[in-house]
Amino acid sequence: MDKDFFLPADDFFRRVIPNGLTFDDVSLVTRYSDVLPSEVKLETKLCESIHLNLPILSADMDTVTEADMAIGMALCGGLGLIHYNMSKRQQVKEVSRVKHHVHGLIQDPICFTAEKLVGDVLQMIEEKSFQFRTFPIVDENHRLLGLLPGRVVKQRYSDRKVTEGMLPRDKVFTIRESEVGSDPIETADQFFSQHMGIHKLLVVDDEDRMRGLYTLSDIERIMEEGSDHIKPSRDTNFRLLCGAAVSVPRNSDGDIDRESLEEHVGEMIEKGLNLVAVSTAHGHTKGVGEATRFLRKCFPDLAIMAGNVTTGEGVKFLAESGANIVKIGQGPGSICTTRIVAGVGIPQMTALYAAALKAKDAGVTILADGGISKSGDIVKALTLAEGVICGGLLAGCREAPGAIVEIEGKYYKQYRGMGSLEAMKDGSAARYGHSIKDIGSKSTAEGIEALKEVSGSLKQALGNLAGGIRAGLGYLGAANLHELKEKARFVQVSPAGQKESAPHDVVEIKRGEFN
Ligand code: XMP
Repeated sequence: MDKDFFLPADDFFRRVIPNGLTFDDVSLVTRYSDVLPSEVKLETKLCESIHLNLPILSADMDTVTEADMAIGMALCGGLGLIHYNMSKRQQVKEVSRVKHHVHGLIQDPICFTAEKLVGDVLQMIEEKSFQFRTFPIVDENHRLLGLLPGRVVKQRYSDRKVTEGMLPRDKVFTIRESEVGSDPIETADQFFSQHMGIHKLLVVDDEDRMRGLYTLSDIERIMEEGSDHIKPSRDTNFRLLCGAAVSVPRNSDGDIDRESLEEHVGEMIEKGLNLVAVSTAHGHTKGVGEATRFLRKCFPDLAIMAGNVTTGEGVKFLAESGANIVKIGQGPGSICTTRIVAGVGIPQMTALYAAALKAKDAGVTILADGGISKSGDIVKALTLAEGVICGGLLAGCREAPGAIVEIEGKYYKQYRGMGSLEAMKDGSAARYGHSIKDIGSKSTAEGIEALKEVSGSLKQALGNLAGGIRAGLGYLGAANLHELKEKARFVQVSPAGQKESAPHDVVEIKRGEFN
């Protein structure tokens, strides 16, 4: 009998056509379960090179994701998409900051040659805002001569040669590249346990040329992170994963500025970028197709995300253009006004269903982008998508860019749509198909400026969301996201049912913030 009422996605979404449904319009049916929430696995694979331990990405918005947010997201197993409302140079820097966060094995440590003065080192630290002060000293063939310790990198020694203050080669602890083994972090951890008080371990090749550097504090942090419930998202070099968004840049003739796109994405890849997102309000367009195709040609192995679309045709188009991952969502966002302004867009669950239908055959994965306001929405989205993108839910966190403001004793952070007038003036106009000079005259805002109440640390926020997702999978008897898709059965919720779904007929004492 149950199967007549509680339908799998294919039957359910077809039966409710032509109604478009969003998260609150549907509920998932609980099923027999022998899965405890704590046993649920939340890993997801977005493409060959992008595996996440938490299926959540932070939105490429200028009030959501810069380096601090991207670092926090990756540490918690997700991924941050650095926004593009900044200079290209700054965006490269943000990517670099993420990739340099707690390396484990730093494979290209900054070295100085023997003729340099301590003053040169200080100048470089200042210019590049380095957070460290210990540097290997090498000869012109990059062979190790010694290690300059932080305690002598001081203004008072600025006229002295680095070789005067360095620890000589025979006092520096090193291992051969061939001894690093398959688990570089474990190797270093063992070394530091055996060598009390030593903080740096250098890696050299057979000719004694510098190949890498470990620091004790990095290794300790990584070992601590490893014991947490959630594992960070790292690349094969143990660096945190990082994504960045780009628009479709145009030159003065209105053509795609291919040179600039290739150069900029190339620079970010050099810093270790793992994924680029061609991020616009309308992805099923000539411009986004061409930009995606061009990037695929320039960077055959790069993970490319593109969007946004809300139809199967849109997914197919972007897949054929070379995207691996497609963003789904037009107008569901908490700060979006696209549907009001332009009268377009599809409620998010129906859009996800239409997209999912094509995604499998097209060989791409999809992400639910926008409109997520609670962990239950994420569970529903994951019945059709491989991950979700959140903006508003994370914008109040400490790691989001922007200052905290106090209003009548409450603390807030700014959160604005990338299609709001102010954000478009700051650079995001291209995302909506406008040029900056048209803002306020030929173009209308598709987003608002708002405030979010400050909500503490990202770790806490993501921990709450992950807890909610685990509970959802537990109710369905799904041990992982693959089983969630198989076991999901839907029911439509009436307006009275929606009212019943939230706390009612009581005076609430404390509201759970994220679930
Ligand atoms: P949430 O609901 O998580 O949504 O706050 C974040 C997503 O909203 C999209 N976005 C916009 N959509 N006008 C729009 O119509 C805008 O100004 C705007 N800014 C962001 C974007 O997909 C983001 O990830």
